[in-house]
Amino acid sequence: MRGILITFEGIDGSGKSTVIAEIARKLAEGERLPFRGKHFLFTAEPTEGEEGHLIREKLKRDSQTTRGQASRTRKAEQLEELFLFMADHAHHLEETVLPALEQGMVVISDRYSDSRVAYQGATLQGIVPHPLEWVRELHRPWSIVPDKTILFSIDPALAVERCLSRSEETGTSQMSKDPEKFEREEFLKEVAENFDRMAKGEPERFVTIDANCAKAEILEETMRVLAELLSETERP
Ligand code: TYD
Repeated sequence: MRGILITFEGIDGSGKSTVIAEIARKLAEGERLPFRGKHFLFTAEPTEGEEGHLIREKLKRDSQTTRGQASRTRKAEQLEELFLFMADHAHHLEETVLPALEQGMVVISDRYSDSRVAYQGATLQGIVPHPLEWVRELHRPWSIVPDKTILFSIDPALAVERCLSRSEETGTSQMSKDPEKFEREEFLKEVAENFDRMAKGEPERFVTIDANCAKAEILEETMRVLAELLSETERP
């Protein structure tokens, strides 16, 4: 029996990784959740594999100049980024996602191909025509579409604030200057618009969660949505 692929998407600072980690912890500790008894696999893109590490190194270098607007003139950089993410996705799909689905598991992926469509759809504007459609087409012949996608929708200004306070806590703040903050917000606004457009285009796949509220509320809502999705997709 084929399992179920549920992906979580949203801009940086939307809080999805925190919520996923919390759900994974609750399951591991055997808490009574409405979807207990299923076998879950928690995974993410970029992955912890070789390509994922390459991407993280590259993003770290690029964040010194901020991604998006400032580097948009650097065509090769943006194309390289896309193809690194694609290579990472190919390995993720073949080595992790498909085998788990074959075993009938519920696969929860923190980011998946929609991140490419939304993010690279923004970074490749002006570099290739119709970047969103192009990136989507690049996946179509060999990748698989998630059964359901939970989109964390948040005001980009609040998301940037959350990223800033998180990086200040860990001492890795790279966005302390106002112009950088402004650019980051503008970039994330574009990515968020892409996500919204995608959700509107596929209402049967996407479920949108309001991620502007407090963490506890978002967690509760996510668990409610997840329980509903899992009972909907339950096979007799
Ligand atoms: P993120 O999920 O935030 O990784 P980490 O857990 O290391 O913080 O992803 C890192 C960045 O990569 C984030 O800004 C989103 C971006 N990204 C893309 O631009 N395209 C993609 O295809 C993916 C998967 C991520």
